[in-house]
Amino acid sequence: MGEEYVVTPAIEKLKQLLVEFPEKAARVSAYSWQYKRDAYSWSAKEILGHLVDSALANLQRFVRAQFQSAPQIRYDQNNWVLSQFWQDRPVEDILELWIVVNKQLAHVWGQLPRASYTKEVNVGSTEVVLMQLSELIEDYIQHMESHLEQINMPKVTVIAAKGKANELGKGNDLIWHLPEDLKRFKRVTSGHSIIMGRKTFESIGKPLPNRTSVIITTDNSYKKEGCIVVHSMEEALAAVHKESEVFIIGGAQVYRQALTMEAVTQLDITEVHEEFEADVFFPEIDAEVWEEVSREDYSADEKNKYNYSFVSYLRKK
Ligand SMILES: NC(=O)c1ccc[n+]([C@@H]2O[C@H](COP(=O)([O-])OP(=O)(O)OC[C@H]3O[C@@H](n4cnc5c(N)ncnc54)[C@H](OP(=O)(O)O)[C@@H]3O)[C@@H](O)[C@H]2O)c1
Repeated sequence: MGEEYVVTPAIEKLKQLLVEFPEKAARVSAYSWQYKRDAYSWSAKEILGHLVDSALANLQRFVRAQFQSAPQIRYDQNNWVLSQFWQDRPVEDILELWIVVNKQLAHVWGQLPRASYTKEVNVGSTEVVLMQLSELIEDYIQHMESHLEQINMPKVTVIAAKGKANELGKGNDLIWHLPEDLKRFKRVTSGHSIIMGRKTFESIGKPLPNRTSVIITTDNSYKKEGCIVVHSMEEALAAVHKESEVFIIGGAQVYRQALTMEAVTQLDITEVHEEFEADVFFPEIDAEVWEEVSREDYSADEKNKYNYSFVSYLRKK
């Protein structure tokens, strides 16, 4: 292991994380930052706090490592969460600290004398544990990446098909048969989690293949084999936070809530150019909030009885 293999890519990686992560962090909902399974588990905020502590300790370690042979850092994993106060701090402050300290780390690594990359230092606090500085750098990046993954917030897209007057369904069922729309739904959502209200799940009747169904209900005793059952929109997002992309698939009640959530950044809408009788409707798409970014128009054919368009919107704010 040497400078070319570890140090230069690590500095690049750290700089890339400094650009990428704040963008991702902006997608994490206030609830998800705070969410703790229990008193002893870490919230996303505490994980970020832990990374600030770790960055500060490592900054000290690397500065000291240039001058001494035992730059120890001490860390008591079990007591840490109880003795820190990250949960009480505004997340913006913690994020800012994370950025500042890691920029300094990248700077220090970049300034390390070349000869010192292979220098062995004692990183144990009681026994002697020798590591090269390049190994320490690699270790730091791996540790940070694995924690940042825990904080990750997927891209959240609402997917729906609606009639001319925002019609969605009637009698807990769909009101048209549009095979092209079903195909697109399958293609787009396959391999991802799909979040839905209890009524939509019951209207579909079973978990859809190649997708993880996340069902929202107020009923604490509700269970469905092969599905994740949650009791709020926020809990639904927390349940899928490790994924890269998830879809909210309805119905009306769930769409209404989803459109107000900042974590939801895209709408993939099939407009069916026809009016239908319905008892549930999609909410108005507010042009102040949503910008149409693409539109594909299709004409009715033998299999698809109505003209329809696939339209995507992105959140402006
Ligand atoms: N055209 C389309 O693209 C499309 C897509 C999906 C669905 N649909 C249609 O939409 C209709 C169903 O929509 P819907 O509005 O009646 O029902 P829904 O949104 O599918 O489900 C509503 C149920 O979800 C649960 N729920 C929703 N928000 C919750 C929250 N914040 N916390 C806890 N539980 C929550 C509640 O379940 P509990 O009552 O169990 O507490 C609630 O009764 C059907 O006609 C379906 O065919 C159309």
